[in-house]
Amino acid sequence: MYNLECIKTRKSIRTYTGEKLNEDQKKSILDYISDDKNLIGLMGNKIRIEFKEMEGGMSGKIGTYGMIKNAPSYLIGICRNDKGSLLDCGYVFEKLILFLENMNLGTCWLGGTFERKQLSTDISLGKDEFIPVITPVGKGTSKFSIKESIVRRSIKADKRLDFDKLFFNNDFSTGIENERAKEILRMVRIAPSASNKQPWRVVVDDENTAHFYIERTPGYKSAKIGYDIQWLDIGIAISHYLIAKGGGNILIDKPDIEMLSEHSEYVASIK
Ligand SMILES: Cc1cc2nc3c(=O)[nH]c(=O)nc-3n(C[C@H](O)[C@H](O)[C@H](O)COP(=O)(O)O)c2cc1C
Repeated sequence: MYNLECIKTRKSIRTYTGEKLNEDQKKSILDYISDDKNLIGLMGNKIRIEFKEMEGGMSGKIGTYGMIKNAPSYLIGICRNDKGSLLDCGYVFEKLILFLENMNLGTCWLGGTFERKQLSTDISLGKDEFIPVITPVGKGTSKFSIKESIVRRSIKADKRLDFDKLFFNNDFSTGIENERAKEILRMVRIAPSASNKQPWRVVVDDENTAHFYIERTPGYKSAKIGYDIQWLDIGIAISHYLIAKGGGNILIDKPDIEMLSEHSEYVASIK
């Protein structure tokens, strides 16, 4: 259902053929999003996911500011607006994205470029709920459109920060030598993140416990978006780590090491 291959092949798809999902595909998705085990995150929060089909294969009803073309359907992620829920939403939603990749369906995390206000009135939200993310889902066109290529180039979508800037051994000044640890972390490195900022940093200790930190991008907390989007990125990174490692337990066990910068915050560890 989730494997290394999906992690390696996934890319954001913004242009679709418009072809509707068939009944089998729809059933697989609906089964997936109604199974609690796919919806509960590492911190115990249950994420709600709704499936919406677009009439006539157009993206008209979900405004994406022209970013997404011809998507036949969307999945909508719903949770509370706090750190733990956002981390869990990142974790749960990325596993959904990888599940769809495994079905050969295109997706694109959208945290900013959709009309949140309009959609929030169309979907019935509970008192504390909001919509941090949606994704189109459908068959992507075989090539990136010109507009899509321009977007990808402007956010350097095919690049990631150097491995040694992201991952460390025991403290933030030592690089990782262990080949197995490197193999797992390469799968974290290629994860998607909001504006491709990659705010995750990981310190692996000698017992092979991986300590995850968020390294916030200054000024990115984004008053415009209205929530702390980089917590989703951390949930995504942890999901890739656990898939690549083949499982593990999460614990809060802050190591006694000097932080990378004033923008760092310890999140959690995976043993
Ligand atoms: C939390 C999150 C929010 C994102 N929001 C948007 C968005 O609003 N609009 C958009 O076009 N892409 C969005 N993206 C996609 C990223 O730009 C993309 O993942 C990144 O550039 C890397 O490209 P790739 O997904 O093809 O590997 C988002 C990604 C994440 C993880």
